Amino acid sequence: MSDTDSLLCAPAGWRASRIRFVTDAARAVVALRAPELAPRTFVVLDAGAARAHPALREAAGPAAIELAGGERGKDFATLELLLRELVRRGVTRDARVVAIGGGAHCDLVGLAASLCLRGVELVLVPSTLLAMVDASVGGKTAIDLPEGKNLVGSFWPASEVLVDVGLAATPSEPEFRAGLAELAKVAIGIDAALFAACERDAAALLARDAAPLAAAVRAAVAAKLRIVTADPLERGERRLLNLGHTLGHALEARSGYAMPHGLAVAQGLHHVLGLAVELALLSSADGARCAALLDALGLPAGPLPPPAELLDFVARDKKLDAAGLTVVLPTAPGSSRLVKLSPRAFLRMA
Ligand code: GLY
Repeated sequence: MSDTDSLLCAPAGWRASRIRFVTDAARAVVALRAPELAPRTFVVLDAGAARAHPALREAAGPAAIELAGGERGKDFATLELLLRELVRRGVTRDARVVAIGGGAHCDLVGLAASLCLRGVELVLVPSTLLAMVDASVGGKTAIDLPEGKNLVGSFWPASEVLVDVGLAATPSEPEFRAGLAELAKVAIGIDAALFAACERDAAALLARDAAPLAAAVRAAVAAKLRIVTADPLERGERRLLNLGHTLGHALEARSGYAMPHGLAVAQGLHHVLGLAVELALLSSADGARCAALLDALGLPAGPLPPPAELLDFVARDKKLDAAGLTVVLPTAPGSSRLVKLSPRAFLRMA
C-alpha cells in the first residue's frame, strides 16, 4: 500500500488518522495480524460482515472476537461484553483493536477502544458503503440508548481506516441503499462537485458500477475529511454533517432501532429539503433537484409517523441546547447552513 492511495486527516492539536484505499481488505487484515504484531492486535469482527465476506472472516483469524453487529447490538450490554473480553485476553495499553464491519460495529468498537484502559489504538476496516463514507471517518464513536440514538459516545479517531470499495458493492439491497443515503447527504449538504457527479452517475451508482462507486466514495471521504480536519470535535462546521440526521435518529429510536440508519437518514433528507423550501432558504427548483437525486438513488420519500410520536426523541437530540435545536438545512445542491428551530417547528407542529 502506498501513501498515494491514502488521505490524511491531521487536525491541529488532535489525533491524526490515515484513510488508506486498498484493493484487498482481507490481505490488509492478514498484514495487521503479522506474527510480530499478533500479541498486541485484537480483531473484533461483525458477524454480518463475516457472513457477507468469508475472506474477511478467514483473514480475521480464529481468535477474532465476533459480535452480532447491527444497530441493535450498539448497547451497554455488548459494550461491557467486549470490554471484559479484551481484559480477559490481556489487553495492554500498547494494544491495537481492529474493528471489521459496518457502521454500527465501528461505532461500538470505537467506543470500547476509547474506554479500554483509558484508550487503546483503533484501526477500522469498514465493510459497508455507509461505514466507508461516514461511520469510520472522523472519530465519532457511540452506543444508543432506548431514549435516543448515539447518546453515549466519545471522539476517538482510528489511527488507520482501510477502505476497500470492492466490499461496498456486495451487501443486501437495503444495506447498499442505506450507504447511498450517507453519500447523498455529503453531496447535498457540502459538496457541489459530488452532487453533480452523483446526478450524472445515479443509475451507475445504483447498479454498483465499480468505477463511479470508487470515485464517489473517495470524493465523499475527502469532503468529510476537509470538514473534520478543521473542526474535529464538532464545535461548528462539522455540524453540517448531521444533515438529515435529526429526523433520521428520531425515526430509528422510535422503531426500537429496527429501521436501518441510512434509510432513516434518507427520510430525514427529504424532510429538511421540504422544510428549507418552506422557510425560503432553498429554491423550490433546487429542492426538487435534490429530491430527484434521492429518488434516482432509490431513496424516495416515505410516509412518516405522526410528528407527536417523534417529538420526545427530537427533544432529546444532542443538538438541542437552551437556544433550541441546531438544524442543518440545505441552501443549494452541495451547500447547507445551520438554523435554530424549536423541536415543534422542526417537526412542522408549530
Ligand atoms: N456522522 C457525522 C459526523 O461524523 O460528524
